[in-house]
Amino acid sequence: MSNELSFQPFSAEFAQDPYAVYKQLREQQPVFYFKDWDAYLLSCYEDIATLVNDSRLVRTLDHILPAKDVAEHKKMENWDSTPNLSAYVRFSILESEGETHDRLRKLVFRIFTPARVHSLRNLVQERVSECLDIIVDKKEADFVEEFFAQIPGHVIGMLLGIPKPDRARLRIWSENIVQVFEPERTAEHIQLAEDTTREFADYLLVLIEERRRQAEDDLLSELIHAESEGKLNRDELISTCILILAGGHGSTIDVSGNGLLALLRHPEQLRQLRQEPELIQTAVQEMLRYDPPLPYFHRFLAEDVEYKGVLYEKGTKFGILYASANRDPAQFPNADTFDIRREPNRHLAFGIGAHFCLGNHLARLNMDIMFSSVLKRMPELRLIDDNPEFRPGITSRGLKTLPVSW
Ligand code: HEM
Repeated sequence: MSNELSFQPFSAEFAQDPYAVYKQLREQQPVFYFKDWDAYLLSCYEDIATLVNDSRLVRTLDHILPAKDVAEHKKMENWDSTPNLSAYVRFSILESEGETHDRLRKLVFRIFTPARVHSLRNLVQERVSECLDIIVDKKEADFVEEFFAQIPGHVIGMLLGIPKPDRARLRIWSENIVQVFEPERTAEHIQLAEDTTREFADYLLVLIEERRRQAEDDLLSELIHAESEGKLNRDELISTCILILAGGHGSTIDVSGNGLLALLRHPEQLRQLRQEPELIQTAVQEMLRYDPPLPYFHRFLAEDVEYKGVLYEKGTKFGILYASANRDPAQFPNADTFDIRREPNRHLAFGIGAHFCLGNHLARLNMDIMFSSVLKRMPELRLIDDNPEFRPGITSRGLKTLPVSW
């Protein structure tokens, strides 16, 4: 590895511009062994698309290792001390493979078809308009907190069937739980995630009893029906609800903040989008490509695999830098250029292969409506701070605040 290349994913420099580091990785060490995580980091589009699509790479080794090794691992990681995280977060559709994964994914897939998501359009528009009404006369705001953060949790709550007065709680629940995925989490983060998971699960158990007596047209009622048919068990039901919230909430807020920042830094692109609002769909895809909110995932090898002449042993961990793939010039012409008309745009912000994001239509619908409405109602949108700060870390990427005026 070249001396010039240092990979420090928790530094302030990396938070402000990870793309310079990704470029170095792609150019100098496209398969880079990162000792701190005992993992090979993949940064090029082709390698990621090939390997993540390979069924020998899996999210967890639990279903292929001997039971005693799994038990040992759980002991080392102290699973007993966090029973709720262990039942509902460490296990989920995202963390399952093979038949279990297919069975659970099929159940949720039905709810997230383009047609089903499209039917939410008016309800999402109502929520967006309601939130814009509150801030539009203020003339300036932290757009992340006062606008973007008000939408996705509410929409997911609506979809799941969480009563409106309780939807504000979803945000804090989701934020507390997702910290557990940060490689640099502390014991306090884990405890908070455990307590929050218990609170959320208890809340869902009460709601499940209500829906069992009186079903509604929502995801929770559908999952309860599937449970009664023996298609999933109670723990799987709760973990699915938690994953949908945790996966879809912060990610949509973050990419919207990142996307608005990109637009405001490219006034010519912003002007084009105002002139041709029908470009919104390609513009949203470009925001997802250019600065995605979930830059990093991982996989393990379920068996020995030879790739490009190198033998990697069963159990090897790969770090998947989706955000780097999105800037790979071998896949995207002028990859560092923000271009709202870009087509084709096969970005990897939603992943690829068996675990491809189930919520991608919903995320894009939210973004489409949020951005279209903002551009219509706020004709003079400007950055107050040209260089807003990003939160440090690599599993999620988003701004601390985004002060804008209009
Ligand atoms: C812009 C917003 C979003 C982004 C960037 C995003 C990204 C991703 C990515 C990259 C994966 C695959 C992870 C991997 O390769 O290991 C994933 C999986 C998943 N996402 Fe999303 N997501 C977003 C929004 C949502 C929403 C709104 C929902 C639901 C309401 C959702 C639900 C899921 C679920 C259930 C999975 C697991 C699929 C499986 O394991 O089969 N996501 N997401």
